[in-house]
Amino acid sequence: MDIKERLRSIETIAGSTMDAGGAARILDMMGACFPREILGEIKIYSEYLPKAEDIGFTEEQRYLHFLWDTLDKTPMAAVANFAIPLRRIIAKRLFKSCGKNFIAEENVRFNFGHNIEVGDDVFFNRGVFLDSKGGISIGNRCALAEGAEIYTHSHSQSNHVKRTYAGVTIKDFACIYSHATILPGITIGAQAIVAAKSLVSQDVAPNMMVAGIPAKVVRERHNGGCTRSQLNHVWLHKGVFQDE
Ligand SMILES: CC(C)(COP(=O)(O)OP(=O)(O)OC[C@H]1O[C@@H](n2cnc3c(N)ncnc32)[C@H](O)[C@@H]1OP(=O)(O)O)[C@@H](O)C(=O)NCCC(=O)NCCS
Repeated sequence: MDIKERLRSIETIAGSTMDAGGAARILDMMGACFPREILGEIKIYSEYLPKAEDIGFTEEQRYLHFLWDTLDKTPMAAVANFAIPLRRIIAKRLFKSCGKNFIAEENVRFNFGHNIEVGDDVFFNRGVFLDSKGGISIGNRCALAEGAEIYTHSHSQSNHVKRTYAGVTIKDFACIYSHATILPGITIGAQAIVAAKSLVSQDVAPNMMVAGIPAKVVRERHNGGCTRSQLNHVWLHKGVFQDE
């Protein structure tokens, strides 16, 4: 079966019953080696987190998380024309919402996919980590570069068991560059830039560039007089995976 047929088949399976049988068939399409007989009893790490008591996992959500993570442990993760469309199929079914042209590279991790909203033309580069317990909302045409991290929960310093949750919002056309960290409760304004390795502990105003630890405003974004779609947030060469 060629790549396109495999993807079509996965889309059909994911669009019907995502149970242990469906997960087994998708694992076959991924060429993943896994003991099929235990699929009915698996749990994923996030099911053991306290937040799971509030927002839980349906059977479908459990298998979609499992398949997202498993893909990166197979050679097919390195087949971009298989892995990127497959991640898109999973995100469309798993995320709270997922717009068109979503691109995710290898080793993107999140704990509650169903607490993530992404707009159109959003790009996650490899190694992005989304702690989405408190909710993450990402607007249109935003990018998270390699190793960018977003956190939406913290622990009480006197009692680790007490947790607080606060969502993160990233507005349209914002770019979070490599290995930047966004702390709980933060809003990154539209068209803002978070420079590489920054630690964002305060909201970022629209169109500003922030940098450093903690991140401070450095200057306005160099927009060259362009706004929104004029900014050409085209992620890969010749806009591949971003159909108009
Ligand atoms: C946002 C970015 C483009 C800014 O770079 P720049 O245009 O060269 O920055 P500027 O020339 O305006 O720098 C202004 C000041 O901020 C500082 N600065 C720039 N980037 C910084 C950073 N990431 N962290 C801390 N300080 C930074 C500069 O040293 C300079 O300080 P100075 O005035 O004391 O000399 C750059 O920091 C960045 O993050 N690049 C993206 C890297 C990346 O993630 N690539 C992968 C993309 S998929």
